[in-house]
Amino acid sequence: MMNKKFIDYYRNLDNKMIGFDLSNKCCFKCVYCSFQNKLNKDRENDFLNLDLFKKIINEQIENKIKYRVIFLAVGGESLMHPYFNEIISFLFKNNEGERLFDIISLNTNVAFLSPESTDTIHNLILNYPGKFMITLSINAYSSRAFKLVKGQDLLKITNENTKYLLRDKKNKNVTDEIVLLQYLVHELSKEESKKFLDFWESFLQDEGINYIVEYELPFKKESDVAIIFKRVYWDNQEKYDKMHQDVVKELGLLPLEEKKKDLEKFSPRFHSVKREPCASLWLSPIVRVDGILSPCLQDDRDLQMLGNLKNDSFFDLWFSESAHNLRKKHIAGDFENISICKDCDFFIGPKISKEDISGYLRIFDEINGEDDE
Ligand SMILES: C[S@@+](CC[C@H](N)C(=O)[O-])C[C@H]1O[C@@H](n2cnc3c(N)ncnc32)[C@H](O)[C@@H]1O
Ligand code: SF4
Repeated sequence: MMNKKFIDYYRNLDNKMIGFDLSNKCCFKCVYCSFQNKLNKDRENDFLNLDLFKKIINEQIENKIKYRVIFLAVGGESLMHPYFNEIISFLFKNNEGERLFDIISLNTNVAFLSPESTDTIHNLILNYPGKFMITLSINAYSSRAFKLVKGQDLLKITNENTKYLLRDKKNKNVTDEIVLLQYLVHELSKEESKKFLDFWESFLQDEGINYIVEYELPFKKESDVAIIFKRVYWDNQEKYDKMHQDVVKELGLLPLEEKKKDLEKFSPRFHSVKREPCASLWLSPIVRVDGILSPCLQDDRDLQMLGNLKNDSFFDLWFSESAHNLRKKHIAGDFENISICKDCDFFIGPKISKEDISGYLRIFDEINGEDDE
């Protein structure tokens, strides 16, 4: 049985992020999207149940748990969730004194980001505490490339919705919103990178909106609007890394070399040093569309699922025997015997400190000590 000491421990961990896979459905079938092409197919639900979502959030509030980030998109298109507005309202309205989150982060393909949805989101940001980061996965400049990459051509509505959001943000002065205009560098669209950049730069300049151009997270937050050229993660990763670096150079952005130091904190891909336990297992629970709790964003096949939140409480699962076993394997450096971790070379997120690991292990000693008395 889970011990209450773990909840106190969890409350005191900094930089926690919780992810919700709100939707398994999407109007597109992007060529680079592992979720819509190879994974998630056998899941029972299309959308995360609203009551279950509220139950999980209420459990966090009751236990005074605060997250640095709540992210609302993992696999499908969250804006297709029939209760998306209710979900986002529920979060903002429960964030008095910023007790629940610092930032809500949403990735969207923009096709369903209607002016009404934008109005709802902006009104919430303006009236309640908390920041909002929205990544608009536009990923193409021409209708031709849009269709090739995403499977159907909805470029016009995508661009219209994007422009509406940017103008509304400026007009209403929604400074607590960070907007990323994303372009994924893929072989079917990479030739258009410069045109994409020119198109959005000229729109932003005409509208008098400040922005920066970036090519990889993390980026310096000098502006709350950024055009970002992102790497594709896929089989044959070296090919995509090189493609991305070529585009970054062509666009005159900083060479990736100079960013390695920053990235080392974030991605083991760049690590030459000994592999450390993955912070995700402590800091980043992921709730899948069917209620499964997973310790890792990358584990879309549920190889390390901790159980289903329909049946158990969040804390019973997050501090269950199987969760502890997984963490202890990481602490022991035994990555080889965990199928999802063995070949993982990608993790975006903060690190777990040595002190936090010692604190975690200390609880087991305390519990064992209590048992001996
Ligand atoms: C899987 S999507 C789900 C959210 C939403 N449907 C969207 O497209 O933004 C989450 C984010 O991952 C990005 N993405 C999808 N496949 C990717 C890949 N193979 N490598 C890098 N990013 C990817 C998308 O562009 C999007 O920004
Ligand atoms: S829009 Fe998003 S979820 Fe849909 S197929 Fe593309 S990347 Fe995947």
